[in-house]
Amino acid sequence: MAKLEGKVALVSGSGRGIGRSIALKLAREGARVVVNDLDADPAHETVAAIRAAGGEAVACVGSVTAPDFAERFVGAAVGTYKALDIVVNNAGYTWDNVIQKMTDEQWYAMIDVHMTAPFRILRAAAPFIRQAAKAEAEAGREVFRKVVNISSLAGVGGNAGQANYSAAKAGVVGLTLALAKEWGRYKVNVNCVAFGLIRTRLTDATAGAGAAIDVDGRQIQVGVNPELLQALERMVPLGRGGTPEEAAGAVYLLCTPESNYISGQTIVCGGGFVM
Ligand SMILES: NC(=O)c1ccc[n+]([C@@H]2O[C@H](COP(=O)([O-])OP(=O)(O)OC[C@H]3O[C@@H](n4cnc5c(N)ncnc54)[C@H](O)[C@@H]3O)[C@@H](O)[C@H]2O)c1
Repeated sequence: MAKLEGKVALVSGSGRGIGRSIALKLAREGARVVVNDLDADPAHETVAAIRAAGGEAVACVGSVTAPDFAERFVGAAVGTYKALDIVVNNAGYTWDNVIQKMTDEQWYAMIDVHMTAPFRILRAAAPFIRQAAKAEAEAGREVFRKVVNISSLAGVGGNAGQANYSAAKAGVVGLTLALAKEWGRYKVNVNCVAFGLIRTRLTDATAGAGAAIDVDGRQIQVGVNPELLQALERMVPLGRGGTPEEAAGAVYLLCTPESNYISGQTIVCGGGFVM
């Protein structure tokens, strides 16, 4: 039997990159997945890929920063599948600048997407989780649920030019620590994965030449320049950036029954690189 058979998972930002690989991996291991992305086409494409492989998934399109999003996202899982077992807070992007040039808009955009959105999603999940955990406890059953928040080496070690992103990714570690203590009584393992250099469009050297992503109508520059990428890869003990599949593997570990006694931890998935 697949390890996540019967489980229901929310994965934010799963239209592309690491989130897409997480959604595919969880589905391959038996979970039914609610796929979210800001962009409709990639979200529907991930759903189609899961279904083509024999899995089950539905899309919940929209920005995680929208005030009504969290209720819609949790509602999609509970409404469609009548359950909620795994929450992966992955959606995000970077919007870099040195502090003297960083605007309030840049600052709050990072806090909103990396910190406030996970907080709201977990708050929206609380009523279902508490009710389910109480019923399971009364029936004498111990059922573990999983929260995996996505941080970054920038959040545990800091990164120049990313005061906003580093602060938000450190904030999500704090959220993880607090909730691990608050939700232990409901048998929820709350952990974090902090990625190092993973090859996605966020770190794509070819995108550094001027590619931009559209977030809420704003064009935001992504990618890194090729020299910086090469320098970063040379600093990784394993000798290269990670693949989205390798990144998804770290998240999957924290969703399995083998991690049932691990909570409040941040695992660094960075090929041996530590800051
Ligand atoms: N790639 C890396 O090296 C790296 C390193 C550390 C942390 N991370 C983190 O991993 C996560 C995934 O990043 P990635 O590298 O896969 O990037 P990506 O750009 O390849 O994929 C991110 C996906 O999230 C979506 N998204 C962005 N903002 C959203 C929003 N407001 N609402 C819903 N969806 C939204 C995007 O549309 C995109 O499809 C992010 O939280 C990122 O900060 C990545």
